[in-house]
Amino acid sequence: MKKEKLLEVEQLNIKFTTSIGDVNVSDDINFSLNKGETFCIVGESGCGKSVVALSLTRLLPENAIIKGSIKFEGFNISELEEKEFSEIRGRKIATIFEQPMSCINPVMRIGDQIAETYRANFNCSRKEAKQQALKKLEEVKLPANRYNSYPHELSGGMQQRVMIAIALACNPQLLIADEPTTSLDVTVQYQILELLQELKEKYNMTILMITHDMGVVHDMADRIGVMYAGNMMEIADRDEFFQRPLHPYAVELLNVVRDPCIYTIPGTVPNLMEWVPGCPFEPRCKRSTEACKINKPKNIVMGERIVRCLNVVPN
Ligand SMILES: Nc1ncnc2c1ncn2[C@@H]1O[C@H](COP(=O)(O)OP(=O)(O)OP(=O)(O)O)[C@@H](O)[C@H]1O
Ligand SMILES: [Mg+2]
Repeated sequence: MKKEKLLEVEQLNIKFTTSIGDVNVSDDINFSLNKGETFCIVGESGCGKSVVALSLTRLLPENAIIKGSIKFEGFNISELEEKEFSEIRGRKIATIFEQPMSCINPVMRIGDQIAETYRANFNCSRKEAKQQALKKLEEVKLPANRYNSYPHELSGGMQQRVMIAIALACNPQLLIADEPTTSLDVTVQYQILELLQELKEKYNMTILMITHDMGVVHDMADRIGVMYAGNMMEIADRDEFFQRPLHPYAVELLNVVRDPCIYTIPGTVPNLMEWVPGCPFEPRCKRSTEACKINKPKNIVMGERIVRCLNVVPN
């Protein structure tokens, strides 16, 4: 059965202009999200995962220069005026972050925040908005009597649930979740991931999950995108990826998971201000050749799988 695409990102290039030079954070990135799937973007810190995610809803600061096309339901949203775009942000594409208090108003009752988010988008009565807020509280498994609580009266895990309720107030088709459980302890992390999975299935929602935790990827992803230094190095179906990663960087990431106590990837992520002629992973790569130093790898497409490497890991 042909999968229906919700989001298509083509030739996304993002750079930040700063007083000491440009920072290239996204280098010709292409990926798409199928309706109802969870796509996880994984990679080490500083690889550009959050920047790519934020660019999708135009939440980057003004020093960002974004090129490329972003299609949502087949419609190019990168060309929309800000006023039209703001109708998509929050209503069709919502975002949650690692720190719930970055999205929650500390001096407003949590129920009212969910209701106001709904009312701002659907222009309905207060009564209807309150009903929707109560429904969302129930969906994120917070008791109705928490409607009148202030955020500081809640635990971190509960605040995370409130943020999810606010994000899902308008039943968005796409939820972008940027490290949503990184700051939580393992048990709460598991509960939040389970909740996201449940809501995804209930609403046939698409999730773009950003994480550097391979355990989360394994539990949540239908497909995976591996990012390194602003490049999407590999895109693969979850099972294929875990059985046989094709990019040497993906192999290294999986080695770390298999042996987290003793294995680290030698070297560090490059400075994104420095231009390199070849593959940015080359200095750390066990399969590197002379060609990798001078030629930028192009995407190799193998059906649904994409690898950006001159020296793909053999069978
Ligand atoms: N406003 C900005 N101006 C200049 N550079 C920026 C700006 N915002 C982000 N960057 C740079 O973009 C690069 C990618 O950052 P990003 O936050 O996307 O990484 P990440 O993969 O999400 O890392 P982490 O796993 O730590 O969250 C970093 O080198 C960062 O310093
Ligand atoms: Mg990040």
